[in-house]
Amino acid sequence: MNILGIESSCDETACAVVRDGREILSNVIATQIPFHLDYKGVVPEIASRKHTEWILPVVKLALKEAGLTLKDIDGIAATNRPGLMGALLVGFTFGKTLAWLTGKPFIAVNHMLGHMYAPHLENDISYPYIGLLVSGGHSIISRVNSFEDFEVLGTTIDDAVGEAFDKVAKFYDFGYPGGVAIDRLAKNGNPDAADFPIPVIHKGQTPYDVSYSGLKTAVINQIDQFWNKDYPKTPENIAAAFQETAVKILVQKVIKACKETGLKTVVAGGGVAANSRLRSLLGEEKEINCIFPSLRLCTDNGAMIAGVAYHYLKRGETSPFSTTCSPRVQMFKHGLSVKKQGGQ
Ligand code: KG4
Ligand code: ZN
Repeated sequence: MNILGIESSCDETACAVVRDGREILSNVIATQIPFHLDYKGVVPEIASRKHTEWILPVVKLALKEAGLTLKDIDGIAATNRPGLMGALLVGFTFGKTLAWLTGKPFIAVNHMLGHMYAPHLENDISYPYIGLLVSGGHSIISRVNSFEDFEVLGTTIDDAVGEAFDKVAKFYDFGYPGGVAIDRLAKNGNPDAADFPIPVIHKGQTPYDVSYSGLKTAVINQIDQFWNKDYPKTPENIAAAFQETAVKILVQKVIKACKETGLKTVVAGGGVAANSRLRSLLGEEKEINCIFPSLRLCTDNGAMIAGVAYHYLKRGETSPFSTTCSPRVQMFKHGLSVKKQGGQ
């Protein structure tokens, strides 16, 4: 079964063809980074306009690189949530229209299910496992029972981890995307240059909830308070010290989740899963088998969307043309399970 997957939720116009939920026949990603660079962040209006310009050539290229024509495609999938509304609408409406014109089944896919599925495109992974979904908009730790069944153990109570990377980078003018810039700078910095505080869990939160606004404030507004005077305050040292704390927050929670659920496999997905320090710290854990997608599949792509869609289509499930987009993650069918385990 060949599925064409379209992704346009943020600043990548992407389309891929995936066979049987596993074999990537093509994976075209047109990144808009140069157009948002001057603004040090994604400008939603620019994102929508670029998607509109690029969607047709990107889809055509994905078919060409796969060596297929539309006749060979068994289903058309597109991201419908979460993301920037104007950006989502471009790829989603394009996908729906293409499905309508060709009479092919149409499948709407939740972007977060896509990120969690990405490592499955490259590895044989059995369920259940601890899923670490870390992107610009989300930080979700869950017990993942199937491609669509997530028991959410913890989420961020304020900023997402990628958002913290982006805001720190923007404040210090490190570059965009913030996570990539910080990861690069940190390689030449010392993580001991500052001792930023690890947030404590309060009543009403689960032991797996995370928080990033305190760390962001400490790095941006209170850096002197936490700075170790033995080190110069260089961009490299700021990046390394911030990154170390940001990553440790996640690693601690994931280790706890493994211990308490007895699960020994951790699967990571989303843009922040590309972080080299997160990959090496989790990789060092002897008790845990940690699986990361390759860098190209960490950030937004159409292959992960086509991969998820295959599993719906295999069961005969398609989405009616009345399906719409939403900026929110929405936790229900075709989304994440609402169950939050272990609330205090
Ligand atoms: O998954 P993604 O491409 O888009 C969303 O669904 O949000 O993730 C983008 C996020 C951004 O916050 C970006 O700064 C972050 O992923 N990111 C990284 C790295 N590469 C991308 N964060 C830390 N280290 C990286 N190497
Ligand atoms: Zn994403």
